[in-house]
Amino acid sequence: SILILDFGSQYSHLITRRCRELNVYCEMLPCTQKISELDWKPSGIILSGSPYSVYDEGAPRVDPAVFEAGVPVLGICYGLQEIAWNHGGKVDPHDRREYGKAVIDVVKTGNTRMDRLFKDEPSQVPVWMSHGDQLSKLPDNFKVIARTPTAPFAAIAHETKDIFGVQFHAEVTHSPRGKELFSAFIDICGVRRDWNMGTFIEKEVARIREFVGPTARVLGAISGGVDSSVAAKLMHQAIGDRFHAVMVDNGVLRAGEAKQVDEMLNKHLGVNVTIVDASDLFLSRLEGVEDPEQKRKIIGNTFINVFEAEAAKLEKQAEEEEAEAKGSGSQHEPKGKYEFLLQGTLYPDVIESISFKGPSATIKTHHNVGGLLADMKLKLIEPLRELFKDEVRELGKLLGIPAHLVGRHPFPGPGLAIRILGPVTRSQVAILQAADSIYIEEIRKGGFYDQISQAFAVLLPVRAVGVQGDKRTYDQVIALRAAQTTDFMTATWFNFPHDFLSNLSNRITNEVTGINRVVMDISSKPPATIEWL
Ligand code: XMP
Repeated sequence: SILILDFGSQYSHLITRRCRELNVYCEMLPCTQKISELDWKPSGIILSGSPYSVYDEGAPRVDPAVFEAGVPVLGICYGLQEIAWNHGGKVDPHDRREYGKAVIDVVKTGNTRMDRLFKDEPSQVPVWMSHGDQLSKLPDNFKVIARTPTAPFAAIAHETKDIFGVQFHAEVTHSPRGKELFSAFIDICGVRRDWNMGTFIEKEVARIREFVGPTARVLGAISGGVDSSVAAKLMHQAIGDRFHAVMVDNGVLRAGEAKQVDEMLNKHLGVNVTIVDASDLFLSRLEGVEDPEQKRKIIGNTFINVFEAEAAKLEKQAEEEEAEAKGSGSQHEPKGKYEFLLQGTLYPDVIESISFKGPSATIKTHHNVGGLLADMKLKLIEPLRELFKDEVRELGKLLGIPAHLVGRHPFPGPGLAIRILGPVTRSQVAILQAADSIYIEEIRKGGFYDQISQAFAVLLPVRAVGVQGDKRTYDQVIALRAAQTTDFMTATWFNFPHDFLSNLSNRITNEVTGINRVVMDISSKPPATIEWL
C-alpha cells in the first residue's frame, strides 16, 4: 500500500481518495512519522502540500529516511519543495503567488525512468496551481519533466532514483488528468490494484472489533441521515447487539423525522434504536441565541449530555437484566459497559472544522466534530472519517441498505437551528418544518430529488409586507436552497423549471401561516456555503 505523509494541506485527503479510486489501499499519517517506526513497509510514499513555506520557522520536516527507503516518492507542491530542500535545491518565495488554472508543457528527457510519470500524457496538460513559493534552483541529480512559462520547474524527477515532484495539485478535480498522474505513479510503485469498498468493510469491521474489545458496548448517535445509518449498519455488522442506536429529538428535526427514523432502523437495518425526546431541554438552552457557532456548540454539548445520561440509563438496565439472569441461573453472555460513542463523521466535516495551527481555517464547527465536550466520558469512534459522501453511499449499498435510504439528502446535526436565521423558538421551528415538507414533497413529485444533492428551506428573520385575502400582512420570508455537488466542498445551485417554482411558491404562501414571500437562493459554494449558517 501507499503511505501518504500529510503536511496539513486542505487537499491532503483528496490524495487518499484518488488512490482509493484507483483501487489502491493507502494510509495517511502525519508528516512527522518516522519511517523506522512504521510496522509495515509501504510500496510508495506521497508527500502532500502544506500551508507552510519551507522557510517558515517551525515548518514541518520530512524524515530524510523517506528518501532512503528504496521506494518511489512523489512530492506534491510543498512535498516537491521538501524533496528539493533535502537534495540541495533552492526554494524562493515567488513574487507572484500562483492560484488557479495553468497548463504545463511536458518535457521528454529521453530517460525512461524519469519520463514514466507523464508517459501517457499529451505534450500539454491543464493543471491546478496553488502556491506561494516555488523552486528556483534544481536539486542535485534532478531534471525538469514539466514546465510552465512562470514555473520553470513545474515537475522534476531524479535521474537514478524513483523520486518525483510536482508543483501543481494533481489531487484536485480541477487538475482533470490528475488521476492519470496518480495511476502512473502507482504503476511505478508496482502496487496491486485490488482494494475496493468490500475490502474497506472487512478492514473496518476488524478494526472496530479490535478497538472496542470483546465486551464493551457502543452507543450510536443516529440522525436519520445516510452517514449515521451507514455507520450504524457497519457497527452492527462488527459487534451485533452490543451496539445500540439512540436518536435524540432535539426539537429542531424535520416534520415527522423521529418516527421515520425509528421505522427505518428497526425495519430496514435491524438495529435497536431508542428515541429520546429532549426537545424541551434543547429549545430552552437555545433560547435567544442567534450566533450560528454558539447554536452549534449548545446543540453539540447538550447532545452529549443527553447521550451520557442515556448511556447510564441503558447500562443500569443491562446490569439489572444481568443480575436477574444470574438469579434465575440461566446462561448468559456477560456484557460490558457503554464505553464508545459512534458518530458518522465524514471527511469534509473534519477538514472544515479543524483549525489547528495550519491549513484549513475553521469554516464551521460541524457539530459531530467541533461541539464535543472536553470531559466527555464516552470515547469517540468514527469509522467513516476518511470517506466522502459518494463513497459512503456506495458503502451503504454494499451493506444492504435500501437505495431510497442511501440516496437521502444529508441533514446537519444542528438541524433546523442553523436554518432559522434568528432565535430558535417552537413556533419558528413549526413554520420552517411546514415549508420544508412542502418543498421536499414537491421536489419528489417533480422527480428532481435524485438530481439534487441537498435541498431545504431556510427561514429568514426579516419581515416583509404582503397582501393576502384583502388584508395587509407583515410576515416572514422563506428562502429555498437546492445544491448540486459531489463532495460538499464546492457546489452549484439547481435550476428548477419556472412553472415548478411558481406552484411551489403558491403552495408555501397559501399553506404556511406566517410566510408571505418565497425567494430562491442562487449562490454557489464558494462564495456561499450550503447552509445559511
Ligand atoms: P456547508 O454549509 O458547510 O455544508 O457548505 C456542507 C455540508 O455539511 C453539512 N453541515 C453540517 N453537518 N453538522 C453537521 O452534521 C453541522 O454543524 C453542519 N453544518 C453544515 C451541510 O448540511 C452540508 O451537507
